[in-house]
Amino acid sequence: MNEQVIKINGISKSFALDKSKSVNILKNISFSAYSNEFISIVGPSGSGKSTLLKCISGLLKPTKGTININSVDPYLLSPSKVAKMRRTEIGFIFQSYNLVPALPVFENIVLPLRLSGKKISKTNIEKLLNSMNFSADLENFVNTLSGGERQKVAIARVLVTNAKIIFADEPTGAVDESSKRLIFKILRKLAGSGVCVIMVTHDIDLASKTDRSLILKDGKLIKILNRPNSAELLEEMEKG
Ligand SMILES: Nc1ncnc2c1ncn2[C@@H]1O[C@H](COP(=O)(O)OP(=O)(O)OP(=O)(O)O)[C@@H](O)[C@H]1O
Ligand SMILES: [Mg+2]
Repeated sequence: MNEQVIKINGISKSFALDKSKSVNILKNISFSAYSNEFISIVGPSGSGKSTLLKCISGLLKPTKGTININSVDPYLLSPSKVAKMRRTEIGFIFQSYNLVPALPVFENIVLPLRLSGKKISKTNIEKLLNSMNFSADLENFVNTLSGGERQKVAIARVLVTNAKIIFADEPTGAVDESSKRLIFKILRKLAGSGVCVIMVTHDIDLASKTDRSLILKDGKLIKILNRPNSAELLEEMEKG
């Protein structure tokens, strides 16, 4: 049975620009997500995809509406409890990687494991990186890596935690075509083994291989496509 792991109810997010002006970025968004499900979020640049992902995952409090992760509203928890929830239940692959430049590849990847006192297996990490065609040395500092290599480190750092909910913000945006397919396959497999994956992507081909696509335009969830195909996705994206 697929369980509901995320429930979003009527969320809006605005940012204050100055004392009297604010800008409304997300507008009344509702949906639910389930274990074993691979959801894609697509939409033009600036439509609010990253903002939505941050709101859902407990990083950015919405202005209105409620969010439940495994039936708990992260914004009602104490900061230490939210941090624990984020460490144990959620993985977030950032669009901007969010790696620690002063640490080598290996230490970046094991950081969440160290923080939660979990066992570290170098062999597993090497296997994981190999499965993404990563060839740089684990002792290299991340600021010496290419964009695509950094992206793979950011992905590995989340995958080692065995999180049951994974948010991925354009996880294949910086990698070559064959790495893209490998990364997608890994996420697809996770979503088939009980994990809920929510991925933002600009790639229509990848979105068409997910279970559901949420189409965002100007901060509004304009359409949810079940088992989307590329033609439908393109058609929705092209609507004014
Ligand atoms: N902290 C903030 N303060 C003010 N405006 C913000 C803030 N964060 C995001 N925005 C604005 O919200 C809008 C949506 O940004 P967001 O990063 O969610 O878009 P996106 O859909 O992820 O775009 P992309 O595809 O380029 O990554 C943009 O116009 C952005 O400038
Ligand atoms: Mg974004």
